[in-house]
Amino acid sequence: MSRKFYITTPIYYVNAHPHIGHAYTTIACDMIARRHRMLGDETFFLTGTDEHGQKIERAAQAAGKTPQQYADEISAEFRQLWKRMGITNDDFIRTTEDRHKKRVQELFRTIRDNGYIYKGTYTGQYCVSDELYVDGAQPGDPCPTCGRITETVHEENYFFKLSAFQEKLLDLYTNPDFIRPETRRNEVNSFVRSGLRDLSVSRSTFTWGIPVPDDPKQVIYVWLDALANYITAIGYGSKHAAAQAAFKKFWPADVHMIGKEIVRFHCVYWPAFLLAAGLQLPKAIVAHGWLLFEESKMSKSRGNIVRTETILDVLGADALRYFLLREVVFGQDGSFSFDALVQRYNSDLANGLGNLASRTLTMINYYFKGEVPYPSHAAARTTADDAIAETASKTIREFGTLFDQFQFSRALETAWALVAAVDKYIVDNEPWALGEKNDEQNRARLATVLYTAAEALRIATALAHPVIPESTAKIWAQMGLGDIKKLALNELAWGQLRLGTKLGEVQPVFPRADKSAIERMQKMEDERRGAPVAATQAVAETPSLSAQGPANPAIQAAAPAANNKISIDDFAKVELRVGLVKVAERVPKSDKLLRLEVDIGSEVRQVLAGIAEAYAPETLVGRKVVIVANLAPRKLRGMESNGMIVAASLEDGKPVLAGFLEDVPVGARLK
Ligand code: MSP
Repeated sequence: MSRKFYITTPIYYVNAHPHIGHAYTTIACDMIARRHRMLGDETFFLTGTDEHGQKIERAAQAAGKTPQQYADEISAEFRQLWKRMGITNDDFIRTTEDRHKKRVQELFRTIRDNGYIYKGTYTGQYCVSDELYVDGAQPGDPCPTCGRITETVHEENYFFKLSAFQEKLLDLYTNPDFIRPETRRNEVNSFVRSGLRDLSVSRSTFTWGIPVPDDPKQVIYVWLDALANYITAIGYGSKHAAAQAAFKKFWPADVHMIGKEIVRFHCVYWPAFLLAAGLQLPKAIVAHGWLLFEESKMSKSRGNIVRTETILDVLGADALRYFLLREVVFGQDGSFSFDALVQRYNSDLANGLGNLASRTLTMINYYFKGEVPYPSHAAARTTADDAIAETASKTIREFGTLFDQFQFSRALETAWALVAAVDKYIVDNEPWALGEKNDEQNRARLATVLYTAAEALRIATALAHPVIPESTAKIWAQMGLGDIKKLALNELAWGQLRLGTKLGEVQPVFPRADKSAIERMQKMEDERRGAPVAATQAVAETPSLSAQGPANPAIQAAAPAANNKISIDDFAKVELRVGLVKVAERVPKSDKLLRLEVDIGSEVRQVLAGIAEAYAPETLVGRKVVIVANLAPRKLRGMESNGMIVAASLEDGKPVLAGFLEDVPVGARLK
């Protein structure tokens, strides 16, 4: 009987365009879902978008759109990207859908009817970026998670009796499979052990959310709304029989895959909400690490985002999938760079699996007219053939074990060790030399060698399919094996390659990438990021300081809810100074960036500015500019940038530097 398997990604906030950090979580889930389908499990893979809350409301406002318009646009971008990447999600839930809203209200009602929700007054600090209540923080304190300044909230709202679940949660964490990896489990355990305060689960100062049942002046806290997607999407709270049956079949989830920064919501709040509603708990919550780019977490506010499309355009989805799962130790942070991506692609895909496939299949074509040859009788066998068969069988076992333990990079390592072993086997046994001599014995030996190589290739291809689906499907078809999706992975074993199988047309699957691939990707990203003003800070989506509002996310978060205006104190946090450009030069290999040395009175600062297309470096030396002097330093192209030059951004994107009509002293503060 087939087992069911239900896996989820977090639902993605629609305030940011999708980037490879989001793709990472989605790819990991897609790969797991694909493997389970191949193992014969009835699999349901869910993803979607998280569209309510103050953060989205403000982002929409800043973009001059209604929250719904804004959410529609960005949610569509996620869907299109997953489609382009061949992600096999079975559903895509949006929290603004009616089905979700009704069912969230049902969940809220149930928890309230069970006595776990009461009305109270909340006074405290709130981080809009993380949509998180920050216990114990004082006005002006930063959020411990993201560092942005918290906002003071004083509201009457509904509280969830989180404190009632402390013991039950601690008990739950004794199951080592519930939270992975262990480091995260330990963190959560000590957080809960230190005591839980009741949680405010509604907001009354803005309206972009799901109304609290029977009290429409309040909207449900966005994390309660969002977490519920895992059950609303599969039918919780529906009156329809089919939806109820789906919920019964798939809940509890087998895996909630998440990034490490949202562990608390998933491992503390979510199980507590479920317990309060009398529902079963998910079986496992698995946290991966962050993808770092230029040494910090890829994120909208840092502006160091790498778009997935760039990689898809140049190397294809499989290259990205393989790289992320092979290069990054799952659960730990990992660095992304175009150099490393291309290096992995060439060594493991083009020269590794791709080369094995093309040399083996080309030789079968050449020596055996494109039909898998018959391995020869005992006299022509050697221990080397048996060693490959053994290695392949061991690889099938080990790959499965490591994969089930979420050790994807090690699982891939074993599969590629098989590829390397077969490569060596081919070199040692010299089929080309055997093919030269046309006697029976050599011919028999040649048949064995090529059969052995082809069978090992088949096994490596089958194991790798969930990770690199597109290219393995091609290799499979080239081997004459038909549709790889029909393969029953749990029956995979040595010796199943049928003799006489007619090969399909053999073509290279992974063309080698040269240096120009790196340059093309780098250029595509530079062009996108080269938004003139913000080259030193947030670039892609954060509005520039001069054009639409503060670029510094700390300032955005500090804006009061009511009308998105900031107070004079907020403005005072931005240190604007007059600077004198001492040195200006182009940054090698960048069309947009200039490296400036700017005297701000107290010191000379190095600043990288995306103004190279509008200003020749020599015209800037001796010019007075306005600089945001208290921005956190950040690295661009390996160089540190310490501040940001202020400019107006014209409609065509051209920057015009801010300046003064009268003479002003260097270092003077603007206020
Ligand atoms: N909306 C919430 C999740 C609600 S789930 C009930 C959220 N959204 S998010 O868009 O900010 O992040 C979604 C996922 O993308 C998280 O798992 C997060 O870890 C992942 N990533 C976003 N940037 C990332 C990296 N730079 N690296 C790795 N994963 C990253 O949180």
